Amino acid sequence: MQAEKLFDLRGQVAVVTGAASGLGLAITKTLAANGAHVALLDLNVDTLAAATNWVKDHGYSAESHQVDVSDSAALRTTIDGVAERHGRLDILVANAGISGGPNSRTDAGAIENVSDELWNRVVDVNLTATFVAIQSAAKHMKKQKSGRIVAIASIAGLRGDPMTGYAYASSKGAVVNLVKQASWELAPYNVLVNGIAPGPFRTNIAGGRIREPEIEKAFADTVPLGRIAETDEIMGLALLLCSKASSFMTGAVIPIDGGTVAI
Ligand SMILES: NC(=O)c1ccc[n+]([C@@H]2O[C@H](COP(=O)([O-])OP(=O)(O)OC[C@H]3O[C@@H](n4cnc5c(N)ncnc54)[C@H](O)[C@@H]3O)[C@@H](O)[C@H]2O)c1
Repeated sequence: MQAEKLFDLRGQVAVVTGAASGLGLAITKTLAANGAHVALLDLNVDTLAAATNWVKDHGYSAESHQVDVSDSAALRTTIDGVAERHGRLDILVANAGISGGPNSRTDAGAIENVSDELWNRVVDVNLTATFVAIQSAAKHMKKQKSGRIVAIASIAGLRGDPMTGYAYASSKGAVVNLVKQASWELAPYNVLVNGIAPGPFRTNIAGGRIREPEIEKAFADTVPLGRIAETDEIMGLALLLCSKASSFMTGAVIPIDGGTVAI
């Protein structure tokens, strides 16, 4: 089959959380460019408007919703609204996430210094909101007997991670198993659930600290390819998992990390 047909998303409706920046924005752009109507969900009203304008200015189809994904009721209402207005929901990319503070090799990130407040906020945004988004989308996808769900985990969820903190690594590890759990239940409904486990990408996470030369080098030194990734490098894998090119894939969590977890 021609590549164009394998990756054709025309007529499909997608929801992307955390769509205004970084990986979510790159994923939004590729879904829209391949024909999907994309509902962009994000907390940040200014970047959300800019991202939505980018999609529309390029002649693609989009709508935007300002929502804090850790507000479960608001997230459910938003996803239900998109599905009900369009009469379908084909793709969910549960991407919104935040960093977990200092890494656990520093004093500030040592286990005795992880506050309840930090732990709860990170788990609320990275894990609970991912669950609520999947739960909301699955309701519609089960009825229509089709759908693609992609959760953005992290290589910090695949093994202990020297570069991140307890709350982040724990929340992402749980996202990995959430993907596997949902894939079992939803497979008979032709709803395919997969995860992406990125290594370091140049985004605005943690206030964009990864762009600081010293921090970038510390991350790059952990990567066999010897560098961190540009945001657009997520596009191919995300499009694969949202399109018919991956029709026999479910329950997979795929690292995209320059080889980091291979060593
Ligand atoms: N950048 C990396 O190196 C890296 C590595 C592994 C995994 N990830 C994961 O990728 C995902 C995207 O992160 P990114 O690196 O693109 O960061 P980013 O900060 O550039 O983008 C995250 C987006 O999510 C939004 N967001 C944050 N909290 C939200 C909330 N409560 N409600 C709604 N929107 C919210 C932000 O406004 C932002 O637009 C996250 O789940 C992150 O954990 C990133």
